[in-house]
Amino acid sequence: MTPLAAPFPHGRPRRLRRTTWIRDMVAENRLSVSDLIWPIFVRSGENVDEPVASLPGVSRLSIDRAVEAAKLAADLGIPCIALFPYTDENDKNPEATEAWNPENLVNRATRAIKAAVPGVGVLLDVALDPYSSDGHDGIVRDGVIVNDETLMALEKMALVQAEAGCDILGPSDMMDGRIGVIRAALETHDFPDTIIMSYAAKYASCFYGPFRDAVGATGALKGDKKTYQMDAANGAEALREIAIDLAEGADMVMVKPGLPYLDVCARAKLEFDVPVFAYQVSGEYAMLEAAAANGWLDREKAVLESLLGFKRAGCDGILSYHAPLAAQLIEGFPA
Ligand code: PBG
Repeated sequence: MTPLAAPFPHGRPRRLRRTTWIRDMVAENRLSVSDLIWPIFVRSGENVDEPVASLPGVSRLSIDRAVEAAKLAADLGIPCIALFPYTDENDKNPEATEAWNPENLVNRATRAIKAAVPGVGVLLDVALDPYSSDGHDGIVRDGVIVNDETLMALEKMALVQAEAGCDILGPSDMMDGRIGVIRAALETHDFPDTIIMSYAAKYASCFYGPFRDAVGATGALKGDKKTYQMDAANGAEALREIAIDLAEGADMVMVKPGLPYLDVCARAKLEFDVPVFAYQVSGEYAMLEAAAANGWLDREKAVLESLLGFKRAGCDGILSYHAPLAAQLIEGFPA
């Protein structure tokens, strides 16, 4: 549809931009705190806050400190946090068995957070990379990431996470068929209400670099993830991935990374009209922080503008390491 507009001089688009109040009145999109999901890194120990060098302002937190972070999220009105583990090297092996240990870091953290701050949602990744000595999201046999054997591992992992009280499972592994397997397992084991936010369109991206540092997977990773994560050249394929995941029982879908893939977010929303989320990933955070630290960008304005861009593209929400800063800015608290 071509927008109707009177020709100049009767039509003057600048009339609606002259003052703050009229700009606010006609704004098409708004960023709210309820749009934000805050990813947090969890590690062992007590009262530990260990900064991640490649993510300035982001730390690995021991479980007690992660509970404090969840309380901060509640105070700020952030609806949901995503937990990622920094697994001790001794707990990693080629089968990634720690992934379905009910007492692993994220499962213990989930129980602690749900007990202390029940009103905040907890999202957990379903993928083997934080637990695999090969650094891959799936099980590796003779250098190949094997699909169907990985599905059995993901099923066990998803069930212990649901058992721990996780509200949203985020399969981020990109194995074929995983949503159907996990959804069926949840039904069979009486977790009918566990939400699945599928990392449906997840690209093989260099922008995950700082995250892999944060979870300690950088050194472990052998090769790349191009045989399961998507090729940056493809857009139509993302729609097929999303269609498959919805048909298999996903409640919501995610596009990842965020800003370089805004076209995919927009197409996903237009095509399917289901809840679509974007993950503004670690490399995107690091870029904004590096430019801000050099005085090249205004941090606060850049954060809010990039997050609003996701809303304009049609996203219902955004996972962002800037969630607490954005929440403070939106609510007008001193950051
Ligand atoms: C694990 C996973 C990754 C991210 C989220 N879950 C890394 C990867 O796939 O290598 C990246 C998040 C970020 O970069 O902030 N499968």
